[in-house]
Parts: sequence; C-alpha cells; structure tokens
Amino acid sequence: MAYTAKDYNNLIGMEGFSDTLLKNHFTLYQGYVTNTNKVLDTLSEMAKGGKIGTSEYAELKRRLGWEFNGMRLHEFYFENLAGKGALSKPGKLGKKLAEEFGSYENWEADFKGVGAMRGIGWAILYQDPASGKLINQWINEHDVGHPAGCNPLLILDVFEHAFMIDYGLKRADYIAAFFKNIKWEAVEGRMK
Ligand SMILES: [Fe+2]
Repeated sequence: MAYTAKDYNNLIGMEGFSDTLLKNHFTLYQGYVTNTNKVLDTLSEMAKGGKIGTSEYAELKRRLGWEFNGMRLHEFYFENLAGKGALSKPGKLGKKLAEEFGSYENWEADFKGVGAMRGIGWAILYQDPASGKLINQWINEHDVGHPAGCNPLLILDVFEHAFMIDYGLKRADYIAAFFKNIKWEAVEGRMK
C-alpha cells in the first residue's frame, strides 16, 4: 500500500513560523512521500524482474533510508508542533528528563545545543526502551546515525529549509520559536 502525505495545515498560524516557510516545508515533505513510494515500487519491480544482484538495485536500496526517514521524521516533527504551554515537570516525561539530565533545564540546554551544532540535520530526543535511558542525538542525514531500537520522542528539523526563510542564519531564534510551539502531550505520548 502506498504512503499518503498527511495534512499539516493545522500548523499554519503558529507563532514564529510564517505561512510561506510552513507551506514550503509541507511541499518538501510531500516530495519525500512521493519518492518513498517511487523507490519502493521500483525496487519491487526490479526484484520481480530478476535484478536484485545489480548495482542499480543496490543504489536504490541505499536510497530508501533517505527517502523513508525524510518522510517519517518530517511527520514526527510536524506532529510535535502546534502545542500550547510548557511541559508538566511532575509528569512522566518531565520526571524522566530531570532524572537523566539532572534537571529539565539541563536537558533543554543540551537539546538546544545539539540543535545549534554546525551542519544540517536533526536534533532528536530518543528513548532507549531497553534501558529507559534518554539520549539527545544529532542526526546528520536522515539515513544515518539513528540509535537502533530507540524511540524518537522529540524531533527538531535543523536543515536550512526549516528556518532560513524566516530567520536567515539565526538558528538559535528558530530553535527558541520551536520550543514555544512544542506539543508536549504528543512527545510524552511517544514514551514507552
Ligand atoms: Fe525539513
């Protein structure tokens, strides 16, 4: 079954995010969905046609991680936005963040620091279900660097398309705007 691009127009009007920036970002996301479907279809056709051993098949197979994760990470990112209000510190996630990082504030400083790292990519708060540990992870490209088996809780897109239209090179201002709009109930709901 083909993947369908989800509608995130509910994000339009979010403080600190212009309509132009969001609409461009939605279009980019839709491209990942289209390409995920294309790559999966082509791979399936190639497999049926006896082309599994070819370099073309191998290269397309490598590409799938880029397209699929580009699709899915954008969904997680959009779905952890348009929230109102701060994290409930006595709640499940608030407690866990304080336990793992010493305080919520320590976690926030670390996560923002990861997001501000030079280069394009993603900052992701992961939960390792095997140990319960929380990890702020830098993902350089969609297809590499994800800790195996971990559960992404909070996703911040720091590719330039995510902020340059509104903020130019002021990435810290974009990250501050992102923090004002986190939908904490969605983030907490992803905990296992
Ligand atoms: Fe993006």
